[in-house]
Amino acid sequence: MLGLGYIFTVVILVTTTPSVSADTKGYSLKYDIGKNLNVSIGNTLIFSHTPQSPMVFVGAGQLNFREFRGNFFINNYVEDRIGLPSFTVSEGTGNQDTIYFSYGNMVNLTMVLSSTNLHPLQVSVTISNPIFNDFWLRIVATPEEQVFGLGEQFSYLNLRHKNYPIWTREQGVGRNKSDIVTFFADKALAGGDYHTTYFPQPTFISDRKYYCHYDGTNYVEVNLQPLTFHEIYVNGDVGNFLFKTESSIKNLTQQLAKFLGLQPELPDWVYTGAILGVQGGTDVMLQRYKNAKKNGVPVSAIWIQDWAGVLKTSFGSRLFWDWKWNSTLYPDLKNKIKSLKDDGVRVLAYINPNLNTNGELFKQAAQGGYLVKNNSGQPYLTDFGEFYCGTVDLTSEAAKQWYKGVIQTNMIDLGLSGWMADFGEYLPPDGVVFQGNLTGREVHNKWPVAWAEVNRMAINERNVTGDVVFWTRSGGAGSGKYTTIMWAGDQNVDFSYGDGLPSTIPAALNLGMSGIGITHFDIGGYTTASQYKALGFALVRTEELLLRSAEAAIFTPMFRSHEGNQPKANVQFYSSEYIEKCFGRLASIFVHISNYTKNYVRDNALFGTPVQRPLFMEFPDDPTAWTITYQYMFGSDVLVAPVIESNVSTMNVYLPSGQWSYIWDSTDYTGSKFVTVNAPLGKPPAFFKKNSVWADVFSEIKTKFPLIPVPVTFSSTSKPGGNTNGVYRDSISVTLVLISLLRSIFI
Ligand SMILES: *[C@@H]1O[C@H](CO)[C@@H](O)[C@H](O)[C@H]1NC(C)=O
Ligand SMILES: *[C@@H]1O[C@H](CO)[C@@H](O)[C@H](O)[C@H]1NC(C)=O
Ligand SMILES: *[C@@H]1O[C@H](CO)[C@@H](O)[C@H](O)[C@H]1NC(C)=O
Ligand SMILES: *[C@@H]1O[C@H](CO)[C@@H](O)[C@H](O)[C@H]1NC(C)=O
Ligand SMILES: *[C@@H]1O[C@H](CO)[C@@H](O)[C@H](O)[C@H]1NC(C)=O
Ligand SMILES: *[C@@H]1O[C@H](CO)[C@@H](O)[C@H](O)[C@H]1NC(C)=O
Ligand SMILES: *[C@@H]1O[C@H](CO)[C@@H](O)[C@H](O)[C@H]1NC(C)=O
Ligand SMILES: *[C@@H]1O[C@H](CO)[C@@H](O)[C@H](O)[C@H]1NC(C)=O
Ligand SMILES: *[C@@H]1O[C@H](CO)[C@@H](O)[C@H](O)[C@H]1NC(C)=O
Ligand SMILES: *[C@@H]1O[C@H](CO)[C@@H](O)[C@H](O)[C@H]1NC(C)=O
Repeated sequence: MLGLGYIFTVVILVTTTPSVSADTKGYSLKYDIGKNLNVSIGNTLIFSHTPQSPMVFVGAGQLNFREFRGNFFINNYVEDRIGLPSFTVSEGTGNQDTIYFSYGNMVNLTMVLSSTNLHPLQVSVTISNPIFNDFWLRIVATPEEQVFGLGEQFSYLNLRHKNYPIWTREQGVGRNKSDIVTFFADKALAGGDYHTTYFPQPTFISDRKYYCHYDGTNYVEVNLQPLTFHEIYVNGDVGNFLFKTESSIKNLTQQLAKFLGLQPELPDWVYTGAILGVQGGTDVMLQRYKNAKKNGVPVSAIWIQDWAGVLKTSFGSRLFWDWKWNSTLYPDLKNKIKSLKDDGVRVLAYINPNLNTNGELFKQAAQGGYLVKNNSGQPYLTDFGEFYCGTVDLTSEAAKQWYKGVIQTNMIDLGLSGWMADFGEYLPPDGVVFQGNLTGREVHNKWPVAWAEVNRMAINERNVTGDVVFWTRSGGAGSGKYTTIMWAGDQNVDFSYGDGLPSTIPAALNLGMSGIGITHFDIGGYTTASQYKALGFALVRTEELLLRSAEAAIFTPMFRSHEGNQPKANVQFYSSEYIEKCFGRLASIFVHISNYTKNYVRDNALFGTPVQRPLFMEFPDDPTAWTITYQYMFGSDVLVAPVIESNVSTMNVYLPSGQWSYIWDSTDYTGSKFVTVNAPLGKPPAFFKKNSVWADVFSEIKTKFPLIPVPVTFSSTSKPGGNTNGVYRDSISVTLVLISLLRSIFI
């Protein structure tokens, strides 16, 4: 398996943000020549250099990547690393200064400090000697400092004390090396770690009230481990580092979102009910819809990811990656879309940037020269498990225009109101793009942004922005300009902190502090591995997980279910009448509070204030608020503490100062303390501010939405049975690798 890997040499890519220079310096530079040097913005010390403890280092080494289906194994072998102790300064008269760092005659490093209209401190670096392709920059830190952001980080909210590689990839299965699921997934090269994510971004916000954004797309590591500094490693040409201070974390977050690009508001129809993830053809789709209505589920849309047909492989059914309506599986779809729309229900589909070589689109793309190529100039083919795909070259304007047209003609013109825009992380580092000018490695971290852009171009040009929604999982700095909503990718169908339901909370909060304030997740999770039963445990969705995660989804901007990669092994919202009614009740609460939600989605569109916010963003003066990871503010008036553990009927919740009301009874609480509340299945802990203008809406919930009576036979934590002949959407081919793992164990 390891033989599938690739080895590459170092290449570089930097994007520069157009910015206007400021008239005056927004930073201050103080130094004693030959001794020390400090750079601050106001009272915030950013850099502090002494010959004994330099702020810049250069080095040389080899950075190697191996890829296996979107999982990357990165080996950075540093051969030399030297700190640059000496410096001289050339003070500018206008808005900039230049510092020359050196180590004898071996290397000179030129650092230009400047101020722009947006950033009081911008730092650019050039290194005289091209042998040194590694660079490290140290930023002052205090031991207790907390740091947030870095894109979509799932494992921690405060990111301090870990190193974070910035390289878009599969999040990996398990994401916790001390967890048995990760152990087995690792054997199949599919395991994740605390930092693996579809959406890494070299931007962080510090509780010292500044943000730091690295404006480049090359391979970077943000090391937050050391106690007295943060260290950013850059491989190749060094881009700009941008710093900004603000009066609060909320302001910083808003400024960052505005700088990187604001997301539009969601269409109104999103708030009218659940988006039902179903598949299996026109009849099945309509049957599911009919039953859902019968059981009281408000439905905003039906999402059919298999609209383009399915393939049989020896591993089971897979989607056919040729993105056009399959009229065998979905007869009469176009008319059904129309009549459903008349009924107030939208139909949504699925697309990704890969094309099956047996499909028509692949042939068109190959002829038009729209595909990523290999070194011999042929389409670069990737094995996705018994079928090969080419990848649309998203750096080529012609290819983008062509794929935009595919989305418009095959999806928007069919009447679809949205789709999952999957993938964006796999770009092979050795693929050749941009008419032969660049390698995949150079544009790897830009790819997700380009993918979101193509989708956005398609809807903007058809004037359906605000009516059509597409949801992406991969991302990078600037994704907010294009995506309409993110989703958290493929959670395991469990309650694990590393990769289950709990992980969606830090993911949303860190993303919110990285410029993306609208995100949601698959209700019930995705990654299922019923074949683990052979190892003595199963990764299959229970009733409890499905319903607890639907509870959490009430307090996100979009309420969407997913059947998972093995639908038949998992409990589904339609598995029984009781579950469907419970699901419907939760979806109805989502609808009930939707004017509130919409209000905060608008806030995000206008000001960049994320819909889901860490407690400390709203209560910065409360020290306990800074220690809470798995509770959040939904807008500014509602505090949510979703149940993220199994077999729980009460919750211990921290309430910051103020007067709070529990939505499930009439109890009022005075904050600044932990309180224990009842939280049986169906009652997600949430509190509203007593003085909220929305108080009526929230106080109505307890009477308007009584629990559905539990049937005698129901056991919420029981494991379902079922077989595994499901359809794989399957980005990572989890199931494929797990099967191969079992083979390797038993053969
Ligand atoms: C830089 O900051 C350090 C720590 O605050 C201080 O000890 C030192 O004197 C400062 N140096 C200059 C040149 O301002
Ligand atoms: C660094 O700069 C010094 C002084 O300008 C020069 O003498 C030296 O050759 C430079 N070294 C390198 C490696 O560029
Ligand atoms: C910071 O946020 C507050 C409250 O939203 C606002 O009044 C203030 O103008 C903001 N400051 C800046 C500099 O944006
Ligand atoms: C449509 O999907 C079916 C399987 O559901 C497949 O047999 C058929 O080949 C597909 N048709 C086209 C035109 O792709
Ligand atoms: C390039 O891809 C073609 C298929 O598109 C394949 O036949 C050829 O072997 C590949 N060449 C290299 C150097 O990988
Ligand atoms: C690729 O490089 C060539 C030669 O430098 C240039 O003429 C061409 O415009 C470049 N193509 C693109 C798409 O940038
Ligand atoms: C979209 O709107 C623009 C400006 O209002 C208009 O010029 C254009 O024709 C519209 N395009 C479509 C496809 O409706
Ligand atoms: C990883 O798993 C261990 C053991 O179950 C647990 O103690 C730890 O909190 C987990 N860490 C994360 C980040 O999920
Ligand atoms: C949202 O507000 C509108 C306008 O005030 C109102 O007509 C509608 O009933 C409200 N929706 C819900 C679900 O309460
Ligand atoms: C659920 O919790 C109860 C009480 O804490 C315990 O007796 C029971 O064994 C637990 N059930 C499961 C399935 O974990």
